[in-house]
Amino acid sequence: MNDSNIILIGPMGAGKSSIGRRLAQKLLLPFKDTDQEIRRGAGVDIGFIFDKEGESGFRERETRVLRELAKGPVAVIATGGGVVLREENRRLLKDSGTVIYLETSVQWQLARTQAGKHRPLLEGVDAEQRLTALLSEREPLYLECANIIVNTDERRVASVTDLVLAHLRDAATAGNSS
Ligand code: S3P
Repeated sequence: MNDSNIILIGPMGAGKSSIGRRLAQKLLLPFKDTDQEIRRGAGVDIGFIFDKEGESGFRERETRVLRELAKGPVAVIATGGGVVLREENRRLLKDSGTVIYLETSVQWQLARTQAGKHRPLLEGVDAEQRLTALLSEREPLYLECANIIVNTDERRVASVTDLVLAHLRDAATAGNSS
């Protein structure tokens, strides 16, 4: 079941990092997070990269990190909400593991993005409008990449993780019997 990456995609506030961390513990795999790798590589936070290099500079860094993570070793990988925007990234995601789309309504995204974490795309704008616009642009791209879809509305990290594990087990069983 764990011979390729488990990759979490979905919008800001879907719970990708928290669920990814727990999933990795359960699967005894390393956990990687593209945003964290970008921060580590740059030595500064994501807001600073957006300020200095614009979104396009950030997207370049995101693709470079994804290419590196796709090479292995096998891990649970949480991605940033905009990772699906580039065609190259979508190909990398699909080719390097099982892609899980953590589907989340704008209302739940809003509730989860209020607290903490610096998110430049939500700064100085109406967050509900921005999240709605981003979701309508990106939802088809998340769906295009997804092997498994799990809704995270009203669910805690532990329960979403259990659902993802159940889907992975089902997928492995279906794969073995065919
Ligand atoms: C972004 C989402 C963020 C981060 C960056 C851009 C996006 O990650 O990559 O601020 O384009 O939706 P999270 O989805 O983990 O918040």
